[in-house]
Amino acid sequence: MAEVVIVENKDAAGALVADEMVRLIESKPDPVLGLATGSTPTPVYQALRERLAGRDVSHVRGFALDEYVGLDPAHPESYRSVITREVVEPLGLDPALIQVPNGAEETIERAGDDYEQAILGAGGVDLQLLGIGTTGHIGFNEPGSSFASTTRVKTLTEQTRRDNARFFASLDEVPRHCITQGLGTILRARHLVLLAFGEGKAQAVAGAVEGPLSSMLPASAIQLHPHVTVVVDEAAASRLELADYYRYTFANKPAWQGI
Ligand code: PGA
Repeated sequence: MAEVVIVENKDAAGALVADEMVRLIESKPDPVLGLATGSTPTPVYQALRERLAGRDVSHVRGFALDEYVGLDPAHPESYRSVITREVVEPLGLDPALIQVPNGAEETIERAGDDYEQAILGAGGVDLQLLGIGTTGHIGFNEPGSSFASTTRVKTLTEQTRRDNARFFASLDEVPRHCITQGLGTILRARHLVLLAFGEGKAQAVAGAVEGPLSSMLPASAIQLHPHVTVVVDEAAASRLELADYYRYTFANKPAWQGI
């Protein structure tokens, strides 16, 4: 089952996950990070920035989960721009080693396969950060997504467009299509770390961790993975039936195990 860690606040979540990422970066000559956008992973990047200051990160490679289709990569809300601004620049990563799916309409037909090949070519993702949408999506795999899916174009739900409208001048500006790693792609990463904060995510988190496997709740796919860490605050954990058991388990975990 997924290891569920209930933390006091976002900073504690950021510290826990950043420590694990540093361990990975220090232990491998060619670590591959799976990067997520949205508000959720921000505390992880913040904590990582403090920990990586002054260290050599020239060997770190990364793959973003998703991108909007048809949005100019130079647009401040393209995920290429967001990853550059919030991850690559602050952490001092080599931009040439950080890939984002290509959302250009002219090449979109083969962009999914190209991205899959790039991930395979890098030896796969070591640690994949994940947020969870209120629809239960991970990446932009909206309800109905196949558990076997690979990187492809998806149509965003109206709920997701509304959730993301806060980043754009108006709802109309939010693209209708995206290109996203599939659930099958995500499941190939060696360690999944899903983060969620706030009451608004509680239902999706409970469904993902304890509900039935269902493409109607794409994040439930994490139950198929042998190494998953779910890091949530009390509000996001509020609908978990086994919350006390998760607390007990984590409190009694041998320190050497890490997450
Ligand atoms: P958020 O988005 O981090 O901005 O809440 C999560 C997601 O949609 O995956």
